[in-house]
Amino acid sequence: MGSWLSLAQLDIFLLATLYSLPATFSSMTFTNRTAIVTGAGRGIGKAIAEVLASKGVTVICVSKSPETCGAVAAAISAAGGKAVARPVDVSDGAAVAKVSGEIIKEFGKIDILVNNAGITRDGLLARMSDDDWNAVIQTNLTSCFHWTKHIGWPMCRNRWGRIINISSVSGIMGNAGQANYAAAKAGMIGFTKSIAKEFARRGVTSNIVAPGFIKTDMTAELSEEVQKGATALIPMQRFGEAVDIANAVAFLASEESGYITGQVFTVDGGMAM
Ligand SMILES: NC(=O)c1ccc[n+]([C@@H]2O[C@H](COP(=O)([O-])OP(=O)(O)OC[C@H]3O[C@@H](n4cnc5c(N)ncnc54)[C@H](OP(=O)(O)O)[C@@H]3O)[C@@H](O)[C@H]2O)c1
Repeated sequence: MGSWLSLAQLDIFLLATLYSLPATFSSMTFTNRTAIVTGAGRGIGKAIAEVLASKGVTVICVSKSPETCGAVAAAISAAGGKAVARPVDVSDGAAVAKVSGEIIKEFGKIDILVNNAGITRDGLLARMSDDDWNAVIQTNLTSCFHWTKHIGWPMCRNRWGRIINISSVSGIMGNAGQANYAAAKAGMIGFTKSIAKEFARRGVTSNIVAPGFIKTDMTAELSEEVQKGATALIPMQRFGEAVDIANAVAFLASEESGYITGQVFTVDGGMAM
């Protein structure tokens, strides 16, 4: 038993391997950058936090539970990266305003904002409650408004920034049983394009990454039958990995993406083309 690595040790080992790659392997430049990643406690957000940290970015990991974002920040730090945890419920506008103010005070500036925290409350419209509607809109869409308002304006003053919002192919194609989620994710696209136009002259870009089906806790909830049906719709015939999304986000967060704004990047194995 003693020779087996625990999951946490394996995570740190894999992360440490990423950090040891020569800089020439990376075509993305990050100079003294600090990022906020929401929903960084698990799944896609965790992968985004890990990939950005592996490129030298200081990452502020946000999730609802202190345990999940705390564990991710601790694993990044143990592997040689720079990360801290800031647990906050992103659906609570007043809480986001408070923590944003504290973060700006502590770190001086934020260069990269990744609005990734999200939930689903699926159900056919006839059976969808007001609570299911409001919780999904508030967590996925309204949270973007609050974070971008409090962090985006300081970015504009600094004349450099990258905002990346994680939408979904559901927001582009629609999906039966996801009227609330698809509305929130489509709303994120309109929001992101509007912000792109407002912030462009100040050196701040704003883009969308729209994942297809990605292997995380969110899709693990789907029945085997639904997973099979979904796989059949994907030209690559498989679900993606969280790191596939993280790599796209890292490019959009880098120096090299500076002339790209207001765009939607689907990362979905070809599903929504
Ligand atoms: N997985 C997919 O196939 C897929 C496809 C398209 C789009 N997306 C989008 O990608 C994003 C990440 O999805 P995922 O699959 O990685 O989800 P996940 O595994 O369920 O993880 C969601 C993360 O968001 C956090 N979160 C949820 N509600 C929150 C709140 N009110 N306040 C703060 N943090 C909150 C969770 O915090 P805790 O750790 O504290 O629970 C968790 O860290 C979501 O926006 C999702 O809609 C996912």
